[in-house]
Amino acid sequence: MTGDVLFSARNLTKEYVTPGNGAFGSRKNRFMAVDGVSFDVTAGTMLAVVGESGSGKSTTARIAAKLLDMTSGSLQFEGEDVTAARGKQLASFRNNVQVVFQDPFSSLNPKHTIERIITAPLDYQGITAPQGNRTLVRELLERVGLNPDHSARYPAQFSGGQAQRIGIARALAVGPKLVVCDEAVSALDVSVQARVINLLRELQRDLGLSYIFIAHDLAVVRQIAESVAVMNQGRIVEQGSREQIFDAPQHEYTRQLLAAVPQINPEWERQRIAAGLAEGHER
Ligand SMILES: Nc1ncnc2c1ncn2[C@@H]1O[C@H](COP(=O)(O)OP(=O)(O)OP(=O)(O)O)[C@@H](O)[C@H]1O
Ligand SMILES: [Mg+2]
Repeated sequence: MTGDVLFSARNLTKEYVTPGNGAFGSRKNRFMAVDGVSFDVTAGTMLAVVGESGSGKSTTARIAAKLLDMTSGSLQFEGEDVTAARGKQLASFRNNVQVVFQDPFSSLNPKHTIERIITAPLDYQGITAPQGNRTLVRELLERVGLNPDHSARYPAQFSGGQAQRIGIARALAVGPKLVVCDEAVSALDVSVQARVINLLRELQRDLGLSYIFIAHDLAVVRQIAESVAVMNQGRIVEQGSREQIFDAPQHEYTRQLLAAVPQINPEWERQRIAAGLAEGHER
């Protein structure tokens, strides 16, 4: 239900240990890429995680999606502790939490058909869709705005924006409640980006999806995220509602980050309005 906490992360840390330059590499470098990160995702909403390059956003996202082991901390999904989930619990977590990555092409196997790519998360678990995989693929392609007759094509036959829609269809195949998007629209042209963001919004509205949306484009975040966490050097320095973060930032780092946002480019805004992403009267 909207309003309930769907997903929580508490005190996540990730320490990377790399060989140092002491005798025999004995002095190791220890580096906290993520250092005590906590956040909640409310059902049916988008939490954006912003911050400069290297601040630990992807590491946090990968830990949240259980693609990367944490050093310490805990994760809860629908009130259940999933920190050490394995077996059946992990499989169910993977159905509930899916990921969309930045580069659509490198995340789609070029040798596989779209149908095979989209059903990979099902194959991985040895399950088939109740309506049959072929029908599921057609439904998903339609759902993400692609031609359902194109399921036998290969990734190279699609544009970047279309490829990212395929990545989204694949994420939806197992019926997740939370989708983690790590810079999922950053590599796309502005107008294409606007349309894919629109799709994410539609899915949020129609399927009740929630998102963790990693982004460096604050103008995009301002348009679509209900809440925002600002990361700097492995920590969340400030988090709150979109209004709190954008209209009344409390932390100096947040102010700096907002000040670094270039003024909204009129051409970009025009394309966004044309794509239905921005309201004409919005800044
Ligand atoms: N496998 C690794 N070993 C050592 N250090 C790593 C490893 N992976 C990431 N790091 C370091 O952890 C820090 C956080 O990286 P992360 O990828 O989470 O940043 P990010 O906020 O996603 O940056 P970007 O905006 O550039 O994607 C960086 O300093 C990075 O160099
Ligand atoms: Mg990253």
